[in-house]
Amino acid sequence: MVREIVVYPDKRLKLISKEVKSFDGALHDLLDDMYDTMRAKNGVGLAAIQVGVDLRALIINIPLEGEDGEHDQPKENTLEMINPVITEQDGSEKFQEGCLSVPGVYEDIERAKHVKVVYFDRDGNKHSLENDAFLAIAIQHEIDHLDGKVFIEKLSYMKRKKFEKEWKKRTK
Ligand code: CO
Repeated sequence: MVREIVVYPDKRLKLISKEVKSFDGALHDLLDDMYDTMRAKNGVGLAAIQVGVDLRALIINIPLEGEDGEHDQPKENTLEMINPVITEQDGSEKFQEGCLSVPGVYEDIERAKHVKVVYFDRDGNKHSLENDAFLAIAIQHEIDHLDGKVFIEKLSYMKRKKFEKEWKKRTK
């Protein structure tokens, strides 16, 4: 089921999400709905707070390019991370990011190039993962949401001011 996306500057985006304690049917429903919502809005990642649920859960699904040039995001390719923690990070890289909670805005953001993350899957099994490509950027972006942060907060003072002015005009 597609849920409604929480859009900036909604105060819920500032909440520090809580740890998931039960890996139950309600969590599975949430993750399934997050996938439906991400697909419906053509996103590559989504944190639970973006559908108004302040739990430390996120999904990422980097589209595969098919032979026909079509991008696909099969559900089985969805990376579901519950209670993720970055345990190592180094290097830095600038990458153009967007966010379903700030639709239509794309900005270069600097983040660590390489990260190591420990997390749980929907059944409560522990995993770890290392990446130094686009996935590393996506993980950092989504974990920021769990800590009440949106990517535009990483812009320089001047760029942020310009963004806020344009955003106000657009959402009037
Ligand atoms: Co986002």
